[in-house]
Amino acid sequence: MNLPDMKKAKERTNKEVKYEELNHEYEEVFKGKKFFLKTYGCQMNVHDSEEIKFYLTSLGFVETEDMNDSDVVLLNTCAIRENAHDKVFGFLGRCKHLKREKPDLIIGVCGCMPQQESVVEELMKKHPYVDIVFGTHNIHELPKLLLKNNSKQDIEIYSIEGDVYENVKYNRDSKYTAWVNIMYGCDKFCTYCIVPYTRGKQRSRHLKEIVLEVEELKKDGYKEVTLLGQNVNAYGKDLNDSESFANLLEAVAKTNIERIRFVTSHPWDFTDEVIDVIAKYNNIMPYIHLPLQSGSNRILKLMGRRYTKEEYLTLFNKLKERIPNVSITTDIIVGFPNETEEDFQDTLDVVEECKYDGAFTFIYSPRNGTPASLMKDNISLEEKEERLHRLNEIVNKYSLINNQKYLNQTVKVLLIDKSEKSDTTACGYTETMKLVNVENAIDRIGQIVDVVITDAKSFSLNGKLK
Ligand code: SAH
Ligand code: SF4
Ligand code: F3S
Repeated sequence: MNLPDMKKAKERTNKEVKYEELNHEYEEVFKGKKFFLKTYGCQMNVHDSEEIKFYLTSLGFVETEDMNDSDVVLLNTCAIRENAHDKVFGFLGRCKHLKREKPDLIIGVCGCMPQQESVVEELMKKHPYVDIVFGTHNIHELPKLLLKNNSKQDIEIYSIEGDVYENVKYNRDSKYTAWVNIMYGCDKFCTYCIVPYTRGKQRSRHLKEIVLEVEELKKDGYKEVTLLGQNVNAYGKDLNDSESFANLLEAVAKTNIERIRFVTSHPWDFTDEVIDVIAKYNNIMPYIHLPLQSGSNRILKLMGRRYTKEEYLTLFNKLKERIPNVSITTDIIVGFPNETEEDFQDTLDVVEECKYDGAFTFIYSPRNGTPASLMKDNISLEEKEERLHRLNEIVNKYSLINNQKYLNQTVKVLLIDKSEKSDTTACGYTETMKLVNVENAIDRIGQIVDVVITDAKSFSLNGKLK
């Protein structure tokens, strides 16, 4: 079997997407057809789906929430853990059934999974009914792939990094908060992580392009931007013009957009200059996601994380001191190869000390092609689950304690949507990224409002308009 041409890495160049190529010829073919798009994974994928939606609607498609009613089903996939992979192949089973009933249905798989050769092979061998496959570096080729689709599986992937595209257009999910890519890829190569392979080497966008995008968003009425990258505080290290994340953050703050957030920060790249800028500007939100991964120096070293528990704690304490009222969340992996009970206890100690506002906790999952996958995955699933459970109990305890501090306080909330609680309740986020349900506020969606907190749970707050 011949694998498709996985185009190799090339020199980084800046390119513009050519929107005139989405011309009327395409519209004639697709006008009024429906697409169903399912997105797995992190904010990168959510934002990439906004780009995909732009292309599809430009071609004349309309979105449907009902897969059975669609002409195109697209799965934007994630490869971070085995269960993400399993979910997609499970869902493909449903697509296959639907295709039996609707032979003209076009099924597409994109995102991080097809960036792995083993997945492409599996798709070719076991899922030949999948029509189009593309990766994370060539989303703009979707229109071409759709038009040329002709009953044979069409696979177009760039194996490593591609160009940096500017002037990308999106159908954004929200009218009030927007994702802004500041960089693509990741150079950290933590030993367990697939992202550097699925997203390629780090490529930063130029500062002036990012600032222009934020200015445009502000003009369009957006209240909040989240600067997006796998490792945002390494921003600029791949550019020749000595730009840094601190400079970028300051330039974005000076646009005076009301709220600025950023994800994700790597502790190793967190400079004092960045802390100074966050402390200086009121429109940079006091919320930092600072992944710990493990509290054991031995495991951190095996993970290739480049910091010790002591260095992490020094940074954590500096952030707490320098940024008033800052809320900090984290990511933690349990059951990394050779993690002993003592190593795990070190992680629990750090969690007890940091009293995080929240944490995403994961069971280690070996990923093909990563250095850690060559280490013996020698902690039983039972042990991993037991550790996860013990960790979550402590994490949730501190989430609740931190949230309870908000009781009877007045906080600023950007209302972004209806809440599931009731027809008259809206929901939004505090400056510190706490989810708040606000009664009788449905007509205030899109505004930043003062809210008195009346109830606090581990994962959300309730409140009423002041
Ligand atoms: N760039 C971010 C996060 C990337 S992925 C960072 O460096 O922090 C999000 C989280 O998934 C990671 O922080 C890590 O906790 C988790 N993760 C990544 N690879 C994993 C794996 N192989 N098994 C379990 N969890 C993993
Ligand atoms: Fe993965 Fe590490 Fe890069 Fe985060 S910093 S995306 S965990 S390699
Ligand atoms: Fe998953 Fe790709 Fe994000 S692997 S976590 S969707 S970068």
